[in-house]
Amino acid sequence: MKPDMKPLLTIFLTLQLGAVMAQKPACVPTGLQCEHLVNPLGLDTPAPRFSWRLDDSRRGARQTAWQLAVGTDSAALAGGKADSWQTAKTATNQGLVTYQGSSLKPFTTYFWRLTVWDKDGKPASSAIARFETGMMQQKNWLGAWISDVNNVDLKPAPYFRKGFTVTKKIRSARAYIAAGGLYELYINGEKTGNHRLDPMYTRFDRRTLYVTYDVTKQLQTGKNAIGVLLGNGWYNHQSTAVWYFHQAPWRARPTFCLDLRITYDDGTTETIASGKDWKTALSPVIFNSIYTAEHYDARLEQPGWNTASFDDATWKNVLLRAAPSTNVVAQAMHPVRNVEAIPARQMRRINDTTVVFDLGRTISGVSQFRVSGPAGTVIRLKHGERVYPTGLVDMSNIDVHYRPTDKSDPFQTDIFILNGKGDEQFMPHFNYKGFQYVEVTSNKPLTLSEKNLTGYFMHSDVPPAGLVSSSSETINKLWWATNNSYLSNLFGYPTDCPQREKNGWTGDAHIAVETGLYGFDGITIYEKWLADHRDEQQPNGVLPSIIPTGGWGYEWGNGPDWTSTITLIPWNVYLFYGDSKILADNYEAMKRYVDRITAISPNGLTTWGLGDWVPVKSKTPVEFTSSVYYFTDASIVAKAAKILGKQADFVAYTALANKIKNAVNAKYYHPETGLYGQGVQTELSVPLHWGIVPDDQKSKVAANLAKRVQADNTHLDVGLLGTKSILNALSENGYADIAYQVASQETYPSWGWWIKNGATTLYENWPIDAKSDISMNHIMFGEIGAWLYKAPGGIKPDPEQPGFRNILLEPHFVKGLNQFEAAHEGPNGLIKSAWSRGSDGITYSVVVPANSGATLTLHLSPGQQLWENGQVVKPLQTTSGNTARYTLQAGSYSFSIR
Ligand code: BGC
Repeated sequence: MKPDMKPLLTIFLTLQLGAVMAQKPACVPTGLQCEHLVNPLGLDTPAPRFSWRLDDSRRGARQTAWQLAVGTDSAALAGGKADSWQTAKTATNQGLVTYQGSSLKPFTTYFWRLTVWDKDGKPASSAIARFETGMMQQKNWLGAWISDVNNVDLKPAPYFRKGFTVTKKIRSARAYIAAGGLYELYINGEKTGNHRLDPMYTRFDRRTLYVTYDVTKQLQTGKNAIGVLLGNGWYNHQSTAVWYFHQAPWRARPTFCLDLRITYDDGTTETIASGKDWKTALSPVIFNSIYTAEHYDARLEQPGWNTASFDDATWKNVLLRAAPSTNVVAQAMHPVRNVEAIPARQMRRINDTTVVFDLGRTISGVSQFRVSGPAGTVIRLKHGERVYPTGLVDMSNIDVHYRPTDKSDPFQTDIFILNGKGDEQFMPHFNYKGFQYVEVTSNKPLTLSEKNLTGYFMHSDVPPAGLVSSSSETINKLWWATNNSYLSNLFGYPTDCPQREKNGWTGDAHIAVETGLYGFDGITIYEKWLADHRDEQQPNGVLPSIIPTGGWGYEWGNGPDWTSTITLIPWNVYLFYGDSKILADNYEAMKRYVDRITAISPNGLTTWGLGDWVPVKSKTPVEFTSSVYYFTDASIVAKAAKILGKQADFVAYTALANKIKNAVNAKYYHPETGLYGQGVQTELSVPLHWGIVPDDQKSKVAANLAKRVQADNTHLDVGLLGTKSILNALSENGYADIAYQVASQETYPSWGWWIKNGATTLYENWPIDAKSDISMNHIMFGEIGAWLYKAPGGIKPDPEQPGFRNILLEPHFVKGLNQFEAAHEGPNGLIKSAWSRGSDGITYSVVVPANSGATLTLHLSPGQQLWENGQVVKPLQTTSGNTARYTLQAGSYSFSIR
């Protein structure tokens, strides 16, 4: 090109680009997901779900029709030809559809494209998205399950390797790996992917997960090597604690099965599979426990063990094994990752050989330690959430259920032995912990500073989907702390705490489900965990209190106040995503569960449960709260039956729900006084929140609750079950200001009391100096997170049009806050509800995403009106008092209320 042509070309390109920009349609389908994931690999389902949203910011933006095309040839698809599924143009506004085309084949990439017609009937097509099928059927696995010959008690983790030669040009390659235990997969010396702790924990003898990786770029023509390091995870639990995981029926030496499927340029395929021709040796990971820690002896490193040039002549033969289960299925979910690096904020030197690092916040995850020192130096990294006045790590709040049999497996303490070859680094492969502080002790003095240690916050890497920000610093910190505890307790299943237990405690999870779903895109985790529920359910309907379990929990803690996860999780996921698959998949299990309670509770009341766990002071009868959960379960089964078209069940479970409601009211409600039981906070708020109170009694009960709370100095007097209901029962029944007062207290007992005392996560008990139940990273009191979206934010899903196709907007401009904003990324896009108080009233801005509508409810003061652009907005309806209702189309609004 002649140099003088350059500016001309730039002008030409700019003009062209301008023309392209100008042509961008006002409405474009975006956010394409398959099975709620972006371009997923390795799906097993024969009927994947497709979802999308509209990028269209116009007022009233909506989809009038859609058409979907799925095919194996992306070029043909771009040209309008689809060989797998071509739907008709369908005149609905749905943004979720299930595949109904020709049978999907395994190991195949499918491309899909969507055309939508906007509110004016103009069409626009999406970019092309894809998904890829995996094994689809057990018979497609070629590999054998292998392990080394050692038994369950041997401590060191095994390496496995296989070298192979590729002679042809590679077009693409996929690794499929399933494991009993945990694995790290390496190809040509490089770790595959950035997941951690794969595969996610399941009841291994019922369902074993496999993961798919695109390894095209890691392979080369010529010599290659695959390496696998296997960890114990929950499969071979060697540590001993009160839940008997060391006696789990599935326990065995870790094992895996791998198929590396290579597609060559000439269209042929070859699979390098696990089998008798693999070699094994013990690794430098001399001990690993998901529960306690990992020990690593760098002197045992075998440099290059996972590369092609390594000589494995001294390695041993592998053992062929039975598969852990006959149900090996794709892990189709957001993986655990090292999501956030947290540099040590401070290092305190205690003496020559002991220092304590402080991350400045409590996390779940690991620390990475870098150091150089003489060979054989033994370094112990003790992780804890608090320190003694001496500065040393205090473990006494988290090691209470641990039952070590000797001193070889100290709690939350990694052991790192140096090889003396210079800069060395250690981070556990198969463990995570809950901690803020790391006490590092060495048997020889080391030169250390803050820079030697970095914390990694690990959790299921669910995309953030919510935002809260307000004029209150304490509320902002509390929201952040709630998210920290939610994420610290998400590792492919929800847990109670990341240190003492790591158990899938059911009660904690259903209390926190709304907080989770407002804040994060968690559907894939919950769908997987509900499959864990189905794996654990007894034929008679009973569920264990922790899921998954090695057997413990069928006899304790598993009443309806905890294991109502079976109904509450599917119901909430349905409300947030508008996807009924989770209801359909779990319907029989829910029904069986409710039938079980019915069988043992003929009069409609049940005493099965733990009750209002870890209360501030007042106690509520277990029969009362458990029966309310039983009522809730029956109601959800009835609603699910209606949605799934099961009319007879709908009638039967509606009648059952009414029977339970009547039984609860007959025994516990005192119509003369408007009190339930003794009238403590949990007793009054639980029936209001869960819909037990007869309509004509609600205002009386709510007034009593408000009085009770004021008599309690507007502070909490609840336990786990009461925290779910107290704020909602107040704000939904005319007492939002009191609810906010309780929510924002900064003195004991309150959430703010923790924050004022430096909490960066939520605690397990209300007093800072409690003597038991004192984990510092529990999500069980986390409903406050959801409440901020629901009450001051006023964003709620509409059960009649779930998935926020209609948004119920009802902001409460509570006293004590001058500004508040809540935003949630729902299936149709960003929903925003933000207000601030000024001298002339409230400014209220709203975003309703394209293809959604909103019902706005405002509680106006006498004489107040809603204004937009200098005009009064007429309410659709004004109900009792000054409650006004408006209908909003999609779009952005800036209102004032004066
Ligand atoms: C857990 C709780 C759980 C409870 C059941 C505790 O040890 O940490 O969060 O729900 O047990 O009672």
